[in-house]
Amino acid sequence: MIVPPRTRNKGSNWEKWGWVYMRASGVLLVVLIFGHLFVNLMTGDGIHQIDFAFVVGKFASPFWQWWDVLMLWLALIHGANGMRTIVNDYVTSPTVRRVLVWALWLSAGFLILLGTLVVFTFDPCIGVTESSSLWDMCQAA
Ligand code: HEM
Repeated sequence: MIVPPRTRNKGSNWEKWGWVYMRASGVLLVVLIFGHLFVNLMTGDGIHQIDFAFVVGKFASPFWQWWDVLMLWLALIHGANGMRTIVNDYVTSPTVRRVLVWALWLSAGFLILLGTLVVFTFDPCIGVTESSSLWDMCQAA
């Protein structure tokens, strides 16, 4: 239906920005996800290098902290917004739809908060005792 110019909604168009976000975050996610997989699985000893010490090493670097946090934020918002589209397309009851969309944003927000806290406050030396293989490294730090 063609809407006459005078009655067009002049407010910000959230659906349009959601559409743009899905494409822009998709492009960035290709780089972030495949970069993540390449560095973790194709360099060094590949999958055999992945253990607690490997994660400790990566989280000691601000570059990888920001890489991982960016991937977390973009993927969770992208996934939640994509699920919101699916819910809006298939759930016919307005009440159930509202509850599900709220649940999506609440769980995405909770995971973003928790994940961001973990990445930036991660300390491998908390609770380390003399019997741990991390003892020497933590004493030197
Ligand atoms: C490799 C990176 C990714 C790319 C290039 C990408 C791209 C896209 C694009 C362009 C759309 C919009 C499709 C449409 O409107 O018809 C979309 C939808 C969606 N994406 Fe992604 N995405 C990626 C990763 C992810 C990840 C990691 C998740 C989960 C956390 C995810 C979950 C979704 C969901 C649930 C939808 C909605 C599907 C639908 O509307 O039928 N995507 N994706």
